[in-house]
Amino acid sequence: MAEAHGLIIMLLIFLEKLSHSKVLLADANVTCIIPDDCLLPCSFRPVGTVVIHWYKQQTPVHSYYYNKDQFGHQNKHFSGRTCLFNSHIPQGNASLLLRRVKVQDKGRYKCYTSTRKGNQEMFVNLEVKAVIQSVIMEMTEETVTCSSYNIYPVPQVTWATDPPSAQEALENSTIKTTDHKGLFNVESTLRILGNLSNYTYYCSFIAADKTQVWIASWKNQEGIIQEEGLALSIPCIALDSSQNFSLTWTFTSSTEPTVILRYDTKTRHSFNLWEGQAELDQDLLLLGDGSLLLLKPDIEEHSGTYTCTHSGLQSRHIIQTKVNITVASIIVDDRSVQRSWWSTAASVAFFLFTITLALPQCARQKALKTRRASQRYNGAGFVEDGLHKHLNTTARYIIGPHGDECNGTQIKFEAQDELAGCTPNTAEDETEALPEATEEEQEENPVGPLVEGNDGQPSCSVEREEFENIEPVHTS
Ligand SMILES: *[C@@H]1O[C@H](CO)[C@@H](O)[C@H](O)[C@H]1NC(C)=O
Ligand SMILES: *[C@@H]1O[C@H](CO)[C@@H](O)[C@H](O)[C@H]1NC(C)=O
Ligand SMILES: *[C@@H]1O[C@H](CO)[C@@H](O)[C@H](O)[C@H]1NC(C)=O
Ligand SMILES: *[C@@H]1O[C@H](CO)[C@@H](O)[C@H](O)[C@H]1NC(C)=O
Ligand SMILES: *[C@@H]1O[C@H](CO)[C@@H](O)[C@H](O)[C@H]1NC(C)=O
Ligand SMILES: *[C@@H]1O[C@H](CO)[C@@H](O)[C@H](O)[C@H]1NC(C)=O
Ligand SMILES: *[C@@H]1O[C@H](CO)[C@@H](O)[C@H](O)[C@H]1NC(C)=O
Ligand SMILES: *[C@@H]1O[C@H](CO)[C@@H](O)[C@H](O)[C@H]1NC(C)=O
Ligand SMILES: *[C@@H]1O[C@H](CO)[C@@H](O)[C@H](O)[C@H]1NC(C)=O
Repeated sequence: MAEAHGLIIMLLIFLEKLSHSKVLLADANVTCIIPDDCLLPCSFRPVGTVVIHWYKQQTPVHSYYYNKDQFGHQNKHFSGRTCLFNSHIPQGNASLLLRRVKVQDKGRYKCYTSTRKGNQEMFVNLEVKAVIQSVIMEMTEETVTCSSYNIYPVPQVTWATDPPSAQEALENSTIKTTDHKGLFNVESTLRILGNLSNYTYYCSFIAADKTQVWIASWKNQEGIIQEEGLALSIPCIALDSSQNFSLTWTFTSSTEPTVILRYDTKTRHSFNLWEGQAELDQDLLLLGDGSLLLLKPDIEEHSGTYTCTHSGLQSRHIIQTKVNITVASIIVDDRSVQRSWWSTAASVAFFLFTITLALPQCARQKALKTRRASQRYNGAGFVEDGLHKHLNTTARYIIGPHGDECNGTQIKFEAQDELAGCTPNTAEDETEALPEATEEEQEENPVGPLVEGNDGQPSCSVEREEFENIEPVHTS
């Protein structure tokens, strides 16, 4: 057996030297998305057995000879991440599947194939990119910050306002750092000049290849003051309702931000923590108006900062509004005027009655009536010294210093973007060990290496303990 192999190899070398038929082709250009799987194309004219070697510069990436994968010389960097389409090799397919592509995989690869009809070198330039998956926007009293993580290559960040400001006025500082994987984290901070209110601040993250633009915006809307009990609409007009989006209302008072309402136009899934207290008009929402209606606002429960977040495919727009629910002003309405008129008239009649007819008998009853009237007076809301009375019935009339607790400027909106176009397949797992596939298994599995999951065996290979001692020689 070994003799036969040796013979074949010598024959291959001989033929190689004899033919010198190297085929030169233009480099193929491939761009792969981190951390997806990546196909490096290569094909050859199939004639009998083949020797395949993939290199990145001088680094051995993957080898195949004696009709099987050979891992003896594979560089550790590629360990467990490469495979060929073994069942397609007899048809001349030497393409390499590189799994969970990384920044460091970027470069020029050589696919060397050798058959008895000659050998061939093909080159593939691999570009990699990690797409922008979210933009996080934060606002403080003095600054507005946009950040995005795990991007490659480094994106460009720009700022704008509405109404527009001069570019010079937008004093920004952008910090770009790389993590251990070589991915960029970008954080850009803009100093707020002049009035905070009524300006919409926009930041854009533009991918290096310009194929992606993410936009985030923040607007601190003018505060709303409303009397308790009166329905109130907090405006949130979406900038772009043409695509699928989700809308989230968040409420912050003294505590952590709470998501009170959420609606997704794509799934039509909705969530309302304040059922019966707050609502969205879903028809208006589909037209881009996500204003929140507070049905019967309450001083204690509904005063605070309301944040409307509109998340589209590559956008996130935030509108923040401070809402101050105040004590209801005391209105003496017609009915109570009438009631007091009637009661006055009744009192007069009663008084006349008592003095003319029943004075002696009713002296005791009159005293009782007076006491009852004064009780009614109190019940109408004149709690003169009631500022801190926490009686259940009068609590709604208490004016308290709740304002200091409204501290909504620091909310973070993390990206949990169900709508984002690209979903990375798996988390990084450097030590992943794939089940070792035997050749028999591979043959039973016509789809070969592409099958991944519980049932199929990825024939993307693990390092093998044993490998052939005899290395086919190749010329390059
Ligand atoms: C790949 O890109 C290089 C330069 O960027 C170019 O010269 C070459 O023609 C491209 N190859 C193909 C197949 O387009
Ligand atoms: C090789 O086979 C794979 C899997 O079927 C396919 O995706 C790829 O396009 C093929 N490549 C060539 C060069 O034929
Ligand atoms: C932000 O800063 C960069 C460089 O730091 C500058 O080129 C740019 O003009 C600044 N302004 C805006 C609006 O991006
Ligand atoms: C800022 O707002 C105040 C009142 O809210 C106004 O008087 C002033 O003109 C505003 N300044 C700018 C630069 O818009
Ligand atoms: C903010 O905008 C609203 C509506 O666009 C306007 O009524 C209000 O006067 C503006 N406030 C300031 C301070 O510019
Ligand atoms: C919204 O999502 C649905 C469901 O995925 C899709 O069919 C539709 O084309 C999307 N619409 C837009 C405007 O992207
Ligand atoms: C308020 O009402 C609750 C139950 O309704 C009761 O347990 C509590 O004692 C009341 N508080 C006052 C101050 O009356
Ligand atoms: C709410 O409005 C009342 C009355 O206008 C005022 O006294 C109070 O300070 C306001 N609270 C906040 C948080 O602005
Ligand atoms: C408001 O924000 C500031 C700045 O982060 C923080 O120091 C302070 O504790 C916050 N106050 C409340 C009541 O949350």
